[in-house]
Amino acid sequence: MGQNLARKILNEHLMEGEMTVGKEIGIRIDQTLTQDATGTMAYLQFEAMGLPKVMTDLSVSYVDHNTLQTGFENADDHRYLQTVASKHGVYFSRPGNGISHQVHVERFGIPGKTLLGSDSHTPTGGGIGMIAIGAGGLDVAVAMGGGAFFTPMPKILNVKLTGKLQPWVSAKDVILEVLRRLSVKGGVGRILEYTGEGIKSLTVPERAIITNMGAELGATTSLFPSDEITLEFLKAQNRAQDWVELLPDADATYDEEIEINLSELVPMTAKPHMPDNVDTIKNIGPITVNQVAIGSCTNGSYMDLMRVAAILKGKNVHPDVSLVVAPGSKQVFEMIAANGALADLIKAGARILEAACGPCIGMGQAPQTDAVSVRTFNRNFEGRSGTKSAQIYLASPEVAAAAALTGKLIDPRELGDYPIVTIPPEFIIDDSMVLAPAVDSSTVEVLRGPNIKPVPLNDAMPETIAAAVVLKVEDNITTDHIMPAGAKILPLRSNIPAISEYVYCQVDETYPSRAKAAGMSFIVGGHNYGQGSSREHAALAPMYLGVKAVITKSFARIHKANLVNFGIVPFTFKNEADYETIDQMDELEIPNIREQMQNGTEITVKNVTKGTEFTVEYDLSERQISILLAGGQLNYTKMQAEA
Ligand code: F3S
Repeated sequence: MGQNLARKILNEHLMEGEMTVGKEIGIRIDQTLTQDATGTMAYLQFEAMGLPKVMTDLSVSYVDHNTLQTGFENADDHRYLQTVASKHGVYFSRPGNGISHQVHVERFGIPGKTLLGSDSHTPTGGGIGMIAIGAGGLDVAVAMGGGAFFTPMPKILNVKLTGKLQPWVSAKDVILEVLRRLSVKGGVGRILEYTGEGIKSLTVPERAIITNMGAELGATTSLFPSDEITLEFLKAQNRAQDWVELLPDADATYDEEIEINLSELVPMTAKPHMPDNVDTIKNIGPITVNQVAIGSCTNGSYMDLMRVAAILKGKNVHPDVSLVVAPGSKQVFEMIAANGALADLIKAGARILEAACGPCIGMGQAPQTDAVSVRTFNRNFEGRSGTKSAQIYLASPEVAAAAALTGKLIDPRELGDYPIVTIPPEFIIDDSMVLAPAVDSSTVEVLRGPNIKPVPLNDAMPETIAAAVVLKVEDNITTDHIMPAGAKILPLRSNIPAISEYVYCQVDETYPSRAKAAGMSFIVGGHNYGQGSSREHAALAPMYLGVKAVITKSFARIHKANLVNFGIVPFTFKNEADYETIDQMDELEIPNIREQMQNGTEITVKNVTKGTEFTVEYDLSERQISILLAGGQLNYTKMQAEA
């Protein structure tokens, strides 16, 4: 029986377990990436392990999130990241060099290798044929130390693409169609492997748009083969030596399959406030647009910006629209500056930002009250833009450019001739903003500013958890709800005592003080709890506030793993209806939890306030249960080292 490509690469990297769907496997990680908002914690954790050097083939520390320096905190973090990288064998991509995922595909990604990144959009690397997975910083720290990355063996879903995209329809519309069909939960426990004739018309940057937003499906990762098109891209990046042909067997089998005819797709958008709330532009009608933002790790590539520049060339941005453009990398920035496309954008009235995440992570460019903002980004969760009342529509660069010109959300096909843009035969190669690690690490002093605080440790799991439900929330809680980003909070990412004051602050501003006062507590949630980013602060800061268990109808993959890593038990209701029987501030009790967790897969919880009982389940490996009993991964790793 033929093998699909995902299983081939996983098999080659298998360190522990068997590749049976749902069973935990441990895989070897070849490359890691971190970004600054999660990276400071990952390197503090790596330092806590006491290893002199990373054990991976390649590890890169990027600075792309916190590039606004409104106080000393971010600059101090950058200095810490630069020095700790140099000391421990990690390459450092300086602020201004670009967004981690795009730069990684351009300069470092290698087909067939595994990549673990402390950012949920790490699967962007699947566009170049890598198994690229997003995880919490602690998992990345363990991988940097040579440890396996553990994940339940995913199902492999074949997304067969037929036909060819029509003018004004782009790769963004492909992934929006996948989201429309599968929803934000549809990728959970799955790798999406793209096959079929249709992939032959998609360049690597276009494939990377699709794998990037596979994160919004909750997928473990997404993957394209490494073929002639991959070779063409790597040649243009002067990295032909990194190419290897990687294809599924001709008779490969898959656990599931869907088919999309690219020829039938039309321009689409994800309406507020979920990436799967997808409709055609035509259906929505010409609503008024106030802001357009182009860039991010989804649509900041050379081809994206060249196309936008070609659409805007010789015209002017609508007077009621603010258009901001952020190139995805220095390479792209330099190229559009050299070939005149940047001048076309500026002339048209675009406001140019540095090559970084910027407005995607709420770092500037918050829209006006009640604004409609069309963005080429990947997430449109309420409040993520920095303006709670803003309505964010996710769309392709083509749709965004059309909105910038007309002030309306219109079908870009109304604009007429479609500008042809191709991959250049050679990109500008200049890695001067990537610093190699020190040859002699003894000469490097790791510099820490006052904002860099040690990683707090949890206590081992108590015998009994008796505590109140200090917070009860609904379905689809995102990590942005739990631990918001933005210019005020992001600079505190390396200071857990300070950032914990902001946990759930946009949902319920009194929550942090209630949780602190309670000492020990529960959170109760609905479906898909913790979807969105990989930020482990959404587990680490609640741990600091005393949360011992989160009981939900279901969890998003990365957040569930992060909860385990910090010693918070992720329980799910056996009977979902029990969610309704619990009120905020009810007192719950789980006696003998240590013993119970080692004997079975479900536990009875007493609702002391109501005088009732309900059952919770836990789908955890033996390894994860040991981590929880120890009070988290760091305690567990230390215990193992001492044993
Ligand atoms: Fe940055 Fe937004 Fe991507 S925050 S890494 S551009 S999802």
